[in-house]
Amino acid sequence: MAVGRRSDVSRALANAGLRGSEITELDARGGLVTPGLIDPHTHLLFGGTRESEVAMRRSGAGYLQILAAGGGILSTVERTRAATDAWLIAEGRRWLQQMLHHGVTTVEAKSGYGLDTPSELRLLDVARRLDDEGPVEIVPTYLGAHAVPPEFRGRADGTAAYVRAVIEEQLPEVARQGVARFCDVFCEEGVFSAEQSRAVLSAARRHGLGLRLHADELRPSGGAELAAELRVASADHLGAISSQGIAALAEAAGSAAPVVATMLPMTSLYLDLATAPPARALIDRGVPVALGTDFNPGTSPSPNLPLAMSMAWLKLGLSASEALVAATINAAYSLGLGATHGSLEPGKQADLVIWDVPSLEQLPYWLGADLARVVVKRGRVVASRG
Ligand code: NIG
Ligand code: FE
Repeated sequence: MAVGRRSDVSRALANAGLRGSEITELDARGGLVTPGLIDPHTHLLFGGTRESEVAMRRSGAGYLQILAAGGGILSTVERTRAATDAWLIAEGRRWLQQMLHHGVTTVEAKSGYGLDTPSELRLLDVARRLDDEGPVEIVPTYLGAHAVPPEFRGRADGTAAYVRAVIEEQLPEVARQGVARFCDVFCEEGVFSAEQSRAVLSAARRHGLGLRLHADELRPSGGAELAAELRVASADHLGAISSQGIAALAEAAGSAAPVVATMLPMTSLYLDLATAPPARALIDRGVPVALGTDFNPGTSPSPNLPLAMSMAWLKLGLSASEALVAATINAAYSLGLGATHGSLEPGKQADLVIWDVPSLEQLPYWLGADLARVVVKRGRVVASRG
């Protein structure tokens, strides 16, 4: 309702007819108040864990090699399909709770470990049930094109046939049931090509879904260029973006439909990637940059978005305020929530965090620390400590 000096806020509340008994007062003394953090890229729901892949990579196996051999994403698909709804909900709730305690009040959650119509719909349904339960708000994304499932892998035209199944079978049903706000694709050499990604995303747009893209995570694959061409809401990863890709995002940034570039620095750490996304160059060219955890069992098993902010501050050249903007208002815009979320302004949803630090600079400074003192979602205290 109001932001500002105590007297102005009190007057605004009184004018709105709110009385003392209807108001909870929180003292943020000595602390820092920010908007609730928004994690715009997670793979929240999955079965099993993948700790053995760290040793495999250490002995020389690449991430995509492990996937090609039927491991990686596919091992998670097998265990996700075998998991019960109750278990998926319990695990999802467990990690959402951790995110909340790190100051995160809104989370994007992708499907993508089902890879057939009923299994993808089930993950989106679990996401909806967790959103209903609250307090963390969930924005659901359909990621049927995350990998080619085992049923399609034996055949020569497996990838093309699976892309057809995504477009002709999965997408229409996901759209009909209204269970996803966005569609995402893993566009990467050896997974889905830019052409295949364009076909899936164009179909998703015809069904009224918003678009996002896993782009140039490991190799330059034309992902950023495609993201700019289609003016998707968000191009994510970008560790291997080409100079043409940077130029394409810079051009989109100057248009009426900018593409948010979402950095996922914990994934680069986890996969020990040689190249970092050129966050500084993107920001300097006017590209809005967001930050996410990429929470998933293979490449970023971390629910800690403030840690991603620290890494962006330390490794990607973002200032503390740029890291905060990336994890709040820019993340909100990338999820189509810019008008209601991501900043402390009258008329927006009151999602906010009181942090146990005296300055914004100390938010990314403490590495991996537990700093959220009070978390408020839609005007209600939903977590507090101490
Ligand atoms: O963003 N790259 C594709 N998807 C995830 C990893 C998923 C997995 O390995 O299970 C990512 O890194
Ligand atoms: Fe991802």
